[in-house]
Order: sequence, then C-alpha cells, then structure tokens
Amino acid sequence: MKSNNNIKVRLNRSELAVPGTKVDFFEKAAKSKADIVFLDLEDSVSINEKLIARSNVIEAVNDINWGEKTVSIRINSYDTEFMKEDIKTIMKNTSSRLDLIMFPKVNSAKEVRNFNKLVTNYEKKFNRIKKIGFEIIIETTLGLININEIALASRRNESLHFGAADFAASIGAKTTSIGGINDNYGVLQNKKEKVRNYFINDMWHYALFKILVTAHAFGLRAIDCPYGDFSDMKGFESLAKSSYTMGFDGKMVIHPNQIDLANSIYSPTYEEVTQAQEILFKMEEAQRKGK
Ligand code: GLV
Ligand code: MG
Repeated sequence: MKSNNNIKVRLNRSELAVPGTKVDFFEKAAKSKADIVFLDLEDSVSINEKLIARSNVIEAVNDINWGEKTVSIRINSYDTEFMKEDIKTIMKNTSSRLDLIMFPKVNSAKEVRNFNKLVTNYEKKFNRIKKIGFEIIIETTLGLININEIALASRRNESLHFGAADFAASIGAKTTSIGGINDNYGVLQNKKEKVRNYFINDMWHYALFKILVTAHAFGLRAIDCPYGDFSDMKGFESLAKSSYTMGFDGKMVIHPNQIDLANSIYSPTYEEVTQAQEILFKMEEAQRKGK
C-alpha cells in the first residue's frame, strides 16, 4: 500500500457496501472482517428512501460498535438535489467515529474542491477535531479524462475507486453486469488456424490501469470495482487476483461472502514477503561490498 505524508495508512483490502436502508445489515457489517464498511446513500437507495437512509446511517455511525473498522458514508453525486444536505447533515450529526466520505460519479477537480470547501467549513462550524478523508469513485467518461486533476484536488483524497457499472453506462457499453467480463468482448484467432479459439478480453483494463497509475503516482490507494455476481466465487477470485497482480490495494465488495477472499488475495503472501526481504538483504550486502 502506498502512502504520502498527508494520508492515513489504512487497510483497504475489502470495502463492504451496505445500503442505507438495510438496517438489519449494519451490525453484521460491523462484526464482519471487512477492512472498511461504507454505508450507502447513493445507488442502492431509491429516491423516495433517501431521507430515511440518511438518518439510518447517521444513527448507525454513532450507535454501533465498529471496533477497529474504518467507517465511510457514500453520499449522492454532485449534480443531485441531495448532495449538499447529505454533507451538511452528516457533518453536523455524526460522531467522530466517521472516518471517510465517499464521492460517487466525480467528473472534475472543481467538484472535489467544492466538497473540500463544504467539509472544511462544517468541520470548523461543528467543532469536529478528526479530519474526514475522501474516497473518490471514477465511474464516468469525464471522471476518467480529468483523473489527474481530480486526484490532486484535495489533500483529503485517500483513494481512487473504479465503478464499473456506472462507467459502463457512461461509455455506452452494451453490458449490464456489475464488473467482470462480457462474452461478446473478445477476439477470434486468425483465420489460417484450423480451430479458431475465441479469447475473451477484459473490457475494463484501460480504466483500471489509468486509475491504478494515477492513484499510485499521487500516493493514493487504488481500489477495484465491485463484482455483482456474488454466487460466482471463482469469477471474483480471478478478477481480484488479476487486480492485486496489477498493483491494486483492494476491492469493493457487495456481499459478506466476498470479504475473506478479498482480504486474503490483497494481502502479500508469505513467499512475497520473504522474497522482498531477501532482495533488500542482498541489496544492502551489495552496497556494503561497494558493488
Ligand atoms: C459502483 O459504484 C459501480 O458503479 O460499479
Ligand atoms: Mg456507481
């Protein structure tokens, strides 16, 4: 995991989404092994339940024993009628147990600067001592184009996340699944082959790579998108292993049965740690010998 001087170092291997209306799930989420829980006011909550979800999550932050967990709230996006009131009500009424606010569908640095202004003003007004960090979801065409400026727009930024489902909609992709592969996105072997194998490609590779490179260039955590088919553990495992191998720090999860896998895949293996220690040892030795 990368860090720079401003950013709190946190485990972010598994980040569990909990809809703000599913109050029965809150205690379970707090007792789960997820590194971070984010209570959602956005896309898992219907328009007519936005206000009740808001008060549910505030109560949950304050009343539930979250133990060592990092606690986040995903608010509604910049262009909605709910965004400003989400921030104000959260900043006014949550205890210092709240660590992060997650901003979805971020399109520009200007949006982040405005979030920063609002949060900073309310931190002062409501005498909040602990500084709230930001999680940014990149899931629109504009968000991906403006990613560098977005990443640098606030010293509160801690992580860049990929939101595959909304990104698919934003680019006009002909897919409706949340993350994962699509059977129609692939290539057929050259026609001189007798048997022409079909290779499925990863249609999110460009977005993932750009998010990863930008996040780590600026010392932020890079967090992979959720995988919607929570009955497909093998699919989840292959996606998580591939993003861990690229350099991602963790993955958003939408079901408790994905937590253990994410925690183990995004932790370095014993062999990786031993190998890294050996490399360091050999480098120090070489330096001592003037090589
Ligand atoms: C997550 O927010 C997604 O859109 O996939
Ligand atoms: Mg989304």
